Amino acid sequence: MSATIAVLSQKGGTGKTTAVRTLTDAMRRIDLSVLAIDLDPQGNLSDYLDVDPDASPTIGDVLSGRAKAREAIHEGIIPANLGLAEAELALGGKMGRELTLKRALRAIKDSYELILIDCPPSLGLLTVNALVASDYALLSAEAQYFALQGVEQALEVIELASDGLNPELELLGIVLNIADMRTRHSREAFDSLHQHFGEKLIETTIRASIAYAESAERALSILDYRPDLGVDYVAVAEELLRRLGLEAPRERMRALVRGIAPAGTGAPART
Ligand SMILES: Nc1ncnc2c1ncn2[C@@H]1O[C@H](COP(=O)(O)OP(=O)(O)OP(=O)(O)O)[C@@H](O)[C@H]1O
Ligand SMILES: [Mg+2]
Repeated sequence: MSATIAVLSQKGGTGKTTAVRTLTDAMRRIDLSVLAIDLDPQGNLSDYLDVDPDASPTIGDVLSGRAKAREAIHEGIIPANLGLAEAELALGGKMGRELTLKRALRAIKDSYELILIDCPPSLGLLTVNALVASDYALLSAEAQYFALQGVEQALEVIELASDGLNPELELLGIVLNIADMRTRHSREAFDSLHQHFGEKLIETTIRASIAYAESAERALSILDYRPDLGVDYVAVAEELLRRLGLEAPRERMRALVRGIAPAGTGAPART
């Protein structure tokens, strides 16, 4: 079995790339084979995963037909660079432009148990390509005043993709990211999302901490840099595996959660 998940949000800076980076790491720690795809011309995921900036070919080459997806995999990631912006522009004028990524991934999809796609901070053609190529969408919503509005806009794009080009697409969940549940506005964001989206909202929120920027700078996973914080992502990963119906991996993820945060140590993390 293989599941492809697009991670997106309506706006920039909601922690999408950090989510893809950390979920990739958590899933690999329980021995799932994971391919990460950077679909953002900023190339942040490629940086976070410490890909050689000159690595070639990239996802831009794949989308413009210059390379096969398999050739563009560099240590478990298909990287991106600014060339992807050009590829996106060129794609705009082509027939079947929304299907390009799906077609490109067809040959490699079954080689991985999970494929995670990091979308750019806009709901344009690249994000539509990600949604058409995916089985699931995972929404990252930053815990701020307009979280609900942003999620609604992202959902409209998901619906557009599932109405037409990808009827199989399912919303896997919404994760409240960069949250400080000690503040009223984070709690209000959580409550309003919960009211509107019920079970789709993932119970575990990703706590806000400067440690995320620090770990990115050092090209370290938060799971190594600050496991006491990274455990949030491990809990989210466990919930995603539950929703995907992957019970055996879920058990392994649960063990990983316990290993990081032994039951009964409810001490609040330093932030
Ligand atoms: N839980 C967190 N707490 C605090 N800061 C965070 C957290 N997660 C990510 N960040 C920081 O917020 C910034 C944006 O994160 P990230 O790059 O993951 O977001 P993004 O949604 O991918 O952004 P973009 O829309 O530009 O692609 C980065 O500096 C990152 O280190
Ligand atoms: Mg990003």
